[in-house]
Amino acid sequence: MDLGLSGQVAVVMGGANGIGKAIAHSFAAEGARVAVVDRDGAVNAVAAELGEGHLPVIVDVTDYPALQAAAARIESELGPVAHVVFTVGIDSGKGGFPFWNLEPSDWTRVYTVNVQGSVNAAHAFCRPMVHRRQGTFLFFSSVAGQIGSQTDPPYSASKAAIINFTQCAAKDFAPYNIRANAIAPGMVHTPLQQKVYALSIANLPEAERPTYDEWCTTKIARLAPLGRMVDPEEIGAYAVYLASNHARNVTGQVLNVDGGWVMHGGL
Ligand SMILES: NC(=O)c1ccc[n+]([C@@H]2O[C@H](COP(=O)([O-])OP(=O)(O)OC[C@H]3O[C@@H](n4cnc5c(N)ncnc54)[C@H](O)[C@@H]3O)[C@@H](O)[C@H]2O)c1
Repeated sequence: MDLGLSGQVAVVMGGANGIGKAIAHSFAAEGARVAVVDRDGAVNAVAAELGEGHLPVIVDVTDYPALQAAAARIESELGPVAHVVFTVGIDSGKGGFPFWNLEPSDWTRVYTVNVQGSVNAAHAFCRPMVHRRQGTFLFFSSVAGQIGSQTDPPYSASKAAIINFTQCAAKDFAPYNIRANAIAPGMVHTPLQQKVYALSIANLPEAERPTYDEWCTTKIARLAPLGRMVDPEEIGAYAVYLASNHARNVTGQVLNVDGGWVMHGGL
């Protein structure tokens, strides 16, 4: 299926690793010119992997003036931005339940990166797109944002806020022919997942610690009816589809790529 993205400019924030990196590859494979944005200097290697005509941009998404400058640079070097993907996300770095095991101050950084970062991205890129009356935004929620996950309450609540902001943005953008959707992954093999694993086994005696693969297999079998982990490349395929004109009537939606986890309702 030709997705019609060839020659269009896509911005992938969080593109240095994991899901964002896979999405950058998916847009490049469709012929889009990709700005790979991240605070991690690994964006240089990712943009080089994509080939000629792609732009690495190192910026912290919580620094709004710097993000505005990055947006202006991307428009001037790559051309009019058509698609904005925001995969940046962090956890609190602490085990979650009960929530009083965390301090209220543990919430601040998670909200600043996940929620304020999404809002910063929308502000930094939307005005020229509104003017041109064309484009798409894709934000990242999680199964955790829909079922009150105890794993990491600030992360869970931030991912719920992203669903709500996606819906607000979709309504505001619709008269300008711009769509906004969110993807909510289940368990994806990425560096973030490795961190969750490390946190989960930290308090177990060494002899009882499962390997990463054993931990994933047991957890996903318990939580998702399909019982399968998600590969980042699968998310890349949905991201380019949602950006394409084939999805022209899809806006304000949350696409769960979770093996049926949210439907199942467990955690
Ligand atoms: N991996 C999963 O199983 C899973 C499940 C559900 C939801 N998600 C969501 O999917 C998205 C991508 O997750 P991932 O697993 O690829 O994460 P990841 O940790 O592998 O990658 C996140 C990227 O964000 C970048 N980043 C972090 N803070 C930043 C900042 N302030 N400014 C700029 N860049 C910053 C990191 O450098 C990294 O490249 C996240 O929003 C995450 O919450 C992931």
